[in-house]
Amino acid sequence: MKILGIETSCDETAAAVVELSNKGDLKLLSNIVASSIDLHKVYGGVVPEIAARSHIEHIHPVVKQSLEEADCGWGDIDGIAVTYGPGLGGSLLIGVLTARTLSVLHNKPLYAINHVEAHVYAAFINKTSKKLSGPYKLPSSQPAFPLLGLIVSGGHTQLTFFKNHFDFQTIGRTTDDAVGEAFDKVAKMLALPYPGGPSIERLAQKGDARKFKLPKARMSNKYDFSYSGLKTAVLRTAQKEIGEDYNFSSHLLAERLSEQQKADLAASFCYTAIETLVDKTLAAYEELRPKSVVIAGGVSASAELRRQIAPRLSVEAHIPDIKLCTDNGAMIAALGCYHAVAKQSVNPKSLEISPSLKT
Ligand code: KG4
Ligand code: ZN
Repeated sequence: MKILGIETSCDETAAAVVELSNKGDLKLLSNIVASSIDLHKVYGGVVPEIAARSHIEHIHPVVKQSLEEADCGWGDIDGIAVTYGPGLGGSLLIGVLTARTLSVLHNKPLYAINHVEAHVYAAFINKTSKKLSGPYKLPSSQPAFPLLGLIVSGGHTQLTFFKNHFDFQTIGRTTDDAVGEAFDKVAKMLALPYPGGPSIERLAQKGDARKFKLPKARMSNKYDFSYSGLKTAVLRTAQKEIGEDYNFSSHLLAERLSEQQKADLAASFCYTAIETLVDKTLAAYEELRPKSVVIAGGVSASAELRRQIAPRLSVEAHIPDIKLCTDNGAMIAALGCYHAVAKQSVNPKSLEISPSLKT
């Protein structure tokens, strides 16, 4: 069975084709991503109107290219999966309206996909077609249920326990900023380019992670996260470093900090932000004893996360290839395959977007 996945919840216009074999393997046949990141860089974050306009321009070429790369005509496609939430309203609309139209036009079942849940399904992709461009580092086996998912992105930070497909419960989530958002905001403070995660990690390599002791939030639910305090602690530390008080504007900080001070702040922030994720994942693993742990979402691209978790977790964490960590259509198509098996199609004439869909 071959499913076309369409993703437009934020700043990536993406489409991919994934094939579910009789043996249960998920094979990636194509994976096309057109990012509008460069258009947002000057603003230091995603501008919803710009993202939506960019989706309109890219959606059809991206879908076309994903079918071509997969060597598929419409006759080969068994269904269309699309992200309907959570995400930016204007962005989601483009993907959903495109998928609805294609579903009616080509008479294909339509599957409504939750973006956050889908991030975990990037870890289920275990094969690629030989024609696919770019090397993918894929796992030899798929994660087994029950599984613990750490979903970490620009919009989400949560620990979700999956008993099986479609049967999951979130045991902890952020009460304020998402971890990726904290990376993006600290990067902006240090005048580093958006998205903040990769920029912070690059600079952090030149810094000392133990230079500044930054606080970890104490939460009443031990699996909840909070990142706004850590972000403020970086600001206060930077102000102190240059001999200013808390009134000093964060916009003027970067030009007063030396390269070494910036690198030490980036390293200390990155270390603490990631250590919190690892601490909570480990605690949840010890309590729930799942068969596997999946780490997914944009922040799972972090090398620091991979470095910290490996020696502390007694099972190997399933972390998707970097190209499948950030937003993509493959994860949407992958979860779409299981929707298709469960015959969970929706009406293409009435599917609505759900920008604040909960997981
Ligand atoms: O999953 P994603 O592509 O989009 C959302 O659904 O939000 O995640 C984007 C987030 C951004 O906040 C970005 O700074 C972060 O993932 N990110 C990283 C890294 N690469 C991307 N954070 C830490 N380290 C990275 N290497
Ligand atoms: Zn995402």
